[in-house]
Amino acid sequence: MQAVLKFNSIPAMRSLADMQIRLQRILAAAGIASRRDAERIIAAGRVQVNGQTVTELGSKADPDTDIVTVDGKSIEPNRPRIVILLHKPALVMTTKSDPEGRTTVMDLLPDSLRHLNPVGRLDYETGGLLLMSNDGDLAERLTHPRHHVPKVYNAMVKGEPSLESLRLLADGIRLEEGMTAPARVQRLGAMGDDTWIELVLTQGWNQQVRRMFKAIGHPVRQLKRVALGPLRLGKLAPGEFRVLTQREVEQLRASARPIETDKPATSRQYPKPLATDRPPIPPRRKPQH
Ligand code: URA
Repeated sequence: MQAVLKFNSIPAMRSLADMQIRLQRILAAAGIASRRDAERIIAAGRVQVNGQTVTELGSKADPDTDIVTVDGKSIEPNRPRIVILLHKPALVMTTKSDPEGRTTVMDLLPDSLRHLNPVGRLDYETGGLLLMSNDGDLAERLTHPRHHVPKVYNAMVKGEPSLESLRLLADGIRLEEGMTAPARVQRLGAMGDDTWIELVLTQGWNQQVRRMFKAIGHPVRQLKRVALGPLRLGKLAPGEFRVLTQREVEQLRASARPIETDKPATSRQYPKPLATDRPPIPPRRKPQH
């Protein structure tokens, strides 16, 4: 009887096949970008393998033997993964460089950490918790729309929103992209004619908090992200950062799991609010994504 040998059952062949890894994975593993961003970098013709520009997304390479470069610089596939929690001050760009010469988050880091990339984005005017990492897979997980990592924002808004309008934010409000997902909303207190509101979102549309408050007629005057998943900004001063422990990274990774849409949100998705003068307004709808 003739034995049928599969390609991958021959040890030498298997190791040959295993060494070839998709370029977007190699770039993500080297901390260049998340896999999605790596695809854009490849499609833009910025990646070369052994001197040849590669734009096809399925292309593979061997990180141990092939020379992979991005914008002419060779990548370091085996650099240790690191995640830092930065207190981004307001009026700082969440980018690696700024054509208008504004301060960027890179300017706040020592040279030894300038290879890290921002995970997600805070607006120029927004301050607060920003993660930076060279772990492209973790970045992908945390920012992917299917993984609803809760993000807690404290917003100082113009005037005093009524209970009904806060209820609209909690249940979902129509923005350009569609209805916002259920959110937890809590009035934290008044400051002169303005009001501090805490908003917990599990989505991350562009300028979502500002647009939600604008939609109810109470534009944001100041905005700060105070928590993300299991992490809190804590006592870090603006411009300061700290390196996450291995345990914190694991908890963060675990928090980035899709919410099951047939179950009500749990405390994992909506972390405990700060002590305030009013109880939170929980969303009446279940998350629907
Ligand atoms: N929502 C906003 O409007 N801005 C941010 O920076 C983050 C969330």
